[in-house]
Amino acid sequence: MFIVIREMKTEWCFLVFCIGIVAGHDDDPAANQIVDFRDRTSGPIGIMTTSLGAPINHNQASTTLNKRLIFHEFFMDYNLHFNREQIPPRVVHTKGGGAFGYFEVTHDMKDICKAKVFSKVGKKTPVAVRFSPQVQLFGGVDTSRDDRGFAVKFYTEDGNFDIVGLNTPMFVIKDPLFFPTFVHSRKKNPQTFLYDSNMFWNFLVLFPEGMHIQMRLFTDLGTPDGYRHMPGFGIHTFQVVNEEKENYFIRFHFTPDAGVKNLSSSEAQKIAGLDPDYANRDLFNAIDTRNFPSWTVSIQVLSVSDVKHADFDVFDVTRVLPEDKYPLRTVGKLILNKNPLNYFADIEQLAFCPCNLVPGILGSPDKLFESRCLSYRDAQHYRLGGNFMNIGVNKPIHEPLTYNRDGRPPIGGNKRNIPNYYPNSYNGPVPYLEENEVELIEIFESKADNLDQTRELYENMRFDEKARLIENIVSSLGSVTDPLLKKQSVNLLSAINPHLGSSVLEGLLANRTKYYWDKDFKVK
Ligand code: HEM
Ligand SMILES: *[C@@H]1O[C@H](CO)[C@@H](O)[C@H](O)[C@H]1NC(C)=O
Ligand SMILES: *[C@@H]1O[C@H](CO)[C@@H](O)[C@H](O)[C@H]1NC(C)=O
Repeated sequence: MFIVIREMKTEWCFLVFCIGIVAGHDDDPAANQIVDFRDRTSGPIGIMTTSLGAPINHNQASTTLNKRLIFHEFFMDYNLHFNREQIPPRVVHTKGGGAFGYFEVTHDMKDICKAKVFSKVGKKTPVAVRFSPQVQLFGGVDTSRDDRGFAVKFYTEDGNFDIVGLNTPMFVIKDPLFFPTFVHSRKKNPQTFLYDSNMFWNFLVLFPEGMHIQMRLFTDLGTPDGYRHMPGFGIHTFQVVNEEKENYFIRFHFTPDAGVKNLSSSEAQKIAGLDPDYANRDLFNAIDTRNFPSWTVSIQVLSVSDVKHADFDVFDVTRVLPEDKYPLRTVGKLILNKNPLNYFADIEQLAFCPCNLVPGILGSPDKLFESRCLSYRDAQHYRLGGNFMNIGVNKPIHEPLTYNRDGRPPIGGNKRNIPNYYPNSYNGPVPYLEENEVELIEIFESKADNLDQTRELYENMRFDEKARLIENIVSSLGSVTDPLLKKQSVNLLSAINPHLGSSVLEGLLANRTKYYWDKDFKVK
């Protein structure tokens, strides 16, 4: 009798366990990917081969013990290829996730921009999108307090158009000279290989314009709840032109249709340990369960006269364009409905560049934009090789007709037998005639100036938002060990808003046993 009851209990437990597992799979198809693969196939999908297609027999595939390795094609092929499977990572935005989908025009912008991608209501353009924390390395955590890349590649009929943006409407610096300075100060310390608060705050003190974006990152928005619930911004003010040769200036916005969701600091820290790939998992699972992420795409529009009469530099990427002055105008929807089939091929090899532009969109006249045109291409030549544009995900929908030939693989068809020099008299490709050509305007840039907007950002926060902001700043500044730097940082915060400075100071002092702190510290 006793034994029977125990058996029943075991069965019952097993049943509950199974239900639990099944429920788990429904929630997390990403975790079940390989099992799903088996379930969708009726058996092994074919005979295994070497890289060159020679079939491998069971004897070769079972062991190398007591065999000659040099003649062991399977051993050689498998191990030598393995040694070469890593390539240089992106120097920033190293870790990321992405997906495919389309952009659909809901409101055309023909009146200001002739680009075909925005020309007709209902027009759909395929897209690839990649999201990425800025400083995390491969194996890093998705929930760190950091800005996130929001890079969109539109595969238009006039070639690829990329918006290589962020989930913040502003950038850190205006002068591209100091991009490596900014990135090095956020990356790991050269000796300890640890993230370093002294370096982090030293940068902010030396480049106070960086406080605008950093203030936003110290709010809940600095820890977005995955990628689906965060907004995106093109940041730069793009010059566009219509058929009438009239110039306009626009900033792109992507607003998540499922709403903005953030994590609290403590949730983000907990998830960092439990599931460092939280955002990638969330994105994959949402798409796999047909819960397609979408964003409303809109623009802020400035006329030439708006640009001339603005009382600040509208091209300053460290500033936002106030929405009450330049309201959002909806243009379309961005929808992600397809997961990558192979992460490395489809996402790691994606090569975005702000200068991948199409007729009608001229890019931005600011110096940061200009410098990015060099950096991304250079980085991709290094990371993916001189013919990275021939990699599947980077190819435009229509075959490019260039006079470039040869080089490192992949070279694709290498333009077959088409004449290989320009100009030529033998029917090679020729340029088209642009009747309404417009040039990017020239601007004069002064040093970044955004303290007013940084202050405004702080002052417009609700009380509870300010409280969490201050807590997050205290916890970051609390680990600064250089007393002078701590003082300079508090002074910077006080210059933004005296209450902000004094609250942070109070928090630091209250927690002085927890954080490194000089007891004799006084604000000036
Ligand atoms: C002087 C300024 C900047 C420089 C030199 C720079 C440089 C770079 C480089 C070299 C990469 C790696 C590219 C690759 O290996 O494929 C990169 C990635 C990225 N950058 Fe920048 N960047 C700058 C400013 C910005 C700004 C202002 C934004 C946002 C508006 C931005 C957003 C991104 C994003 C989203 C990625 C990741 C792209 C991807 O997902 O593949 N960067 N940046
Ligand atoms: C996310 O954070 C921002 C900034 O604090 C806040 O305005 C917004 O309400 C937050 N959203 C959610 C859903 O928590
Ligand atoms: C740190 O100080 C703040 C007051 O500014 C307090 O609310 C918080 O509980 C303190 N944290 C610790 C760990 O003592």
